[in-house]
Amino acid sequence: MKTILVTGAAGFIGFHTAQALAKRGDRVVGLDNFNGYYSPALKRKRALILKEKGIEVVETDLNDHATLRALFETYPFTDVLNLAAQAGVRYARKNPQAYLSSNIDGFLSLLEILRHYPEVKLTYASSSSVYGRNEKIPFSVDDPTDQPANLYAATKKANELMAYSYHHLYGTRMTGLRFFTVYGPWGRPDMAYYSFAEAILSGKPIHLFNEGKMQRDFTYIDDVVRGTIAAIDYPGSYELFNLGNNRPVELLEFVSILEKLLGREAVKVFEGPSAGEVETTYADITSSCEKLGYAPSTNLEEGLAHFVSWYQGEKQCTPI
Ligand SMILES: NC(=O)c1ccc[n+]([C@@H]2O[C@H](COP(=O)([O-])OP(=O)(O)OC[C@H]3O[C@@H](n4cnc5c(N)ncnc54)[C@H](O)[C@@H]3O)[C@@H](O)[C@H]2O)c1
Repeated sequence: MKTILVTGAAGFIGFHTAQALAKRGDRVVGLDNFNGYYSPALKRKRALILKEKGIEVVETDLNDHATLRALFETYPFTDVLNLAAQAGVRYARKNPQAYLSSNIDGFLSLLEILRHYPEVKLTYASSSSVYGRNEKIPFSVDDPTDQPANLYAATKKANELMAYSYHHLYGTRMTGLRFFTVYGPWGRPDMAYYSFAEAILSGKPIHLFNEGKMQRDFTYIDDVVRGTIAAIDYPGSYELFNLGNNRPVELLEFVSILEKLLGREAVKVFEGPSAGEVETTYADITSSCEKLGYAPSTNLEEGLAHFVSWYQGEKQCTPI
């Protein structure tokens, strides 16, 4: 049994992973600042469900050093899963400071605590965004990642470098996870699959950048949760893994699946390329398969069907 601090536990991936860890018998303590980047009410709902399952989510910021220290003094953590971050690519133009505060200062705050607890392993979220303007596909963890296409990507790349330096200096065991467009029930309203579903149902137009030809390696949440838990258990001392689906899908095809599931046609507005968005994300998952036993098994039709059925049920209860 492990004792695991999950940061960003009221977030999408944290909510699902915390439950899966608790289900297998680990003791999970969550942490989240419930910020307003997207509906705090949705985050509170997730936290309430976690509470019902015996998982406490402490409301604090990664930058609150005193509370972090107190948590480490209270619980005998064996692991930290750091998912708390300012996510989203486009928001970085509006509020760049939020990325530095959560992704750089917040991550540093965690690393600074961990250097005093060398036995605690850190598994942390990076992103497929680090591949940036890399044109070779599929993206392998050995590919160069020094051309980030936006500030979010730059902060995630910085996390990988900061993690490496703390591993080198203090011996902390680290595993970084490059997630590829994760989707599913209880997902993030700022992501395309969610905002498109909302727009399609309310008859509002959806804007398809790059004429809808962008490709994304949509990865279903349950597959990501399995990969993340395997990464927590992975005995290596410093490693990076891709957690993608290895099967990129064009945005237009994705919209057509969503239309079928929702039983309504989208009002599509075709736009040119959006600066800061990469054209294709496509994961090479060879090393994740070999070392983590990672084998994503949910196709987009099946995964989106789960999302749509959750979304429609949720809308009938209370707006989020
Ligand atoms: N969902 C994806 O497709 C995807 C893809 C690539 C990488 N990621 C990364 O995975 C992680 C989890 O993503 P998600 O989709 O669950 O995002 P999310 O926004 O739903 O979850 C992040 C949570 O962290 C919290 N948080 C943010 N800053 C904080 C801070 N300073 N202190 C405490 N809590 C803070 C937020 O309130 C939120 O609940 C993030 O690091 C994200 O960058 C996600």
